[in-house]
Amino acid sequence: MSWWKSAVVYQVYPRSFADSDGDGIGDLAGIASRLDHVAELGADVLWLCPVYPSPQDDAGYDISDYRAIDSTFGTLADFDRLLAEVHARGMKLVTDLVVNHTSDEHAWFAESRSSRDSPRRDWYWWRPPRAGMEAGAPGAEPTNWRSAFSGPAWELDPATGEYYLHIFSRKQPDLNWETPELREAIYEMMRWWLERGVDGFRMDVVNFISKDPALPDGRGDGGAFVSGSEHYICGPRVHEFLAEMHREVFAGRDGLLTVGEMPGVTVEDARLFTDPARAELDMVFQFEHVQLDQGATKWDLRPLALRDLKASLGRWQAGLAERGWNSLYWGNHDQPRAVSRFGDDGEHRVRAAKMLATVLQMHRGTPYVYQGEELGMTNAPFARLEDFRDIESLNHYAESVAAGADPEHVLASLRRMGRDNARTPMQWDASERAGFTTGTPWLAVNPNHVEINAEAARADPDSVFHHYRRLIELRHSEPVVAHGDFTMLLPDDERVYAFTRRLGDVELLVLGNFSGAAAEAAVPSGERWRAAEVLVGEAPDGLLSLRPWEGRVLKARSAR
Ligand code: NOJ
Repeated sequence: MSWWKSAVVYQVYPRSFADSDGDGIGDLAGIASRLDHVAELGADVLWLCPVYPSPQDDAGYDISDYRAIDSTFGTLADFDRLLAEVHARGMKLVTDLVVNHTSDEHAWFAESRSSRDSPRRDWYWWRPPRAGMEAGAPGAEPTNWRSAFSGPAWELDPATGEYYLHIFSRKQPDLNWETPELREAIYEMMRWWLERGVDGFRMDVVNFISKDPALPDGRGDGGAFVSGSEHYICGPRVHEFLAEMHREVFAGRDGLLTVGEMPGVTVEDARLFTDPARAELDMVFQFEHVQLDQGATKWDLRPLALRDLKASLGRWQAGLAERGWNSLYWGNHDQPRAVSRFGDDGEHRVRAAKMLATVLQMHRGTPYVYQGEELGMTNAPFARLEDFRDIESLNHYAESVAAGADPEHVLASLRRMGRDNARTPMQWDASERAGFTTGTPWLAVNPNHVEINAEAARADPDSVFHHYRRLIELRHSEPVVAHGDFTMLLPDDERVYAFTRRLGDVELLVLGNFSGAAAEAAVPSGERWRAAEVLVGEAPDGLLSLRPWEGRVLKARSAR
């Protein structure tokens, strides 16, 4: 039971992992050809971002058919082969389940929009214009909600004169989970994938599936449109829907992993979602710690205070200590590269990437490694707007510049926070296209691949890659890593991240220097730790002395 407590997940972003046919876009056969890399790292589970047929308005998170593979990525037969190859290496495969919305090109939506009387009308959220207003008039949208990708969250369908809700792009209409037949169709599709052999699901924004059916206006004064998310984040029936999904899909099946991606989830809610006694999900994927360097929106940058990071991650550790489970991550396909954001991607890149890995992987929870993180891949040197591909960045730029923002200022925030940073091709070797493709990559390869690449990392025993191997191995071999309790130390220290883990008489002290200057870890019981064993890292200057961006794990037998 709960095998995933000692597991590590490796996230693959298929467009950017490996291209087998030279069209410049990664594919399933490419992933299969590179599986040994993931196996060598020691990961237990591979999470595959969406590979279903899609107009690719949001890079595959706009699905037009839930039971097939987009020809860009291959065929169902390629999928089955990949699954068999993953299983043959003793790993599991978790797929992305995107059921808060479909593509507007999904057959369900085509039918739903065909007329107001369509039997599938209620599979989506259709509403007339605001009372007393003409369809299409400014401000006639049924609510003042904003789309996560800029502009209003409603699109008018001129044929029927009603608006449909889309929290993401206008090509991603939200499904209406109030409709029982829709829910059953989703469960049936999920069973179909499980019967095909997949080992679980990463559920895209699954805490958005229950909306307040009254669809009230959002609070706040963010201009004409405000978030409105208080009416759909962890909405009134979300627990009921997930419990039903569990009964209908997961009950009686062993060995699966279910993780709910949940922007805006609180610790208290996360405990409910993941309390095994409630039978909803295995773990959540929460966002608090990746919002600490942002103001009102993700584009509004502000420096990260280490004490805020510790306070946030520490609160999640404490909140789920007795019941429930969390995911651990610094980055994914929606976040900038971890070493550029939280560490140093210049002089101390290798040390910073290792330190970040050490600190994160030694927390309690299930770690997720995003492709390339194990190489210390960095943000990309995007120069011009034309270098970006992501709809979120492009829409934000268009909207802000139209509203009068300084284009250079907007570009600067795209460079820091844009999702394309994480989506540049995987750096396999030093060759011209990084070993990713023989064609023209859909997004430029980071020029630093000549130095930062998997081939070089494998050959260097001191690489970030081998450091990850060691950490993953520890989660498998040292029960305290997966199961020990957690105590945060030095909450106010501005440079040193420090905590202990304990199980029985084994105690670990984990240290990370989040600064470019040498630091001393002034931890309690320092004397005892000065005699401890160095489990991870080096200690040339003393067991509690850290070089810039250095991390370390010490192991001791506890006095208790
Ligand atoms: C979260 C996904 O990770 C992101 O890439 C996507 O744009 C949104 N959900 C909408 O599906």
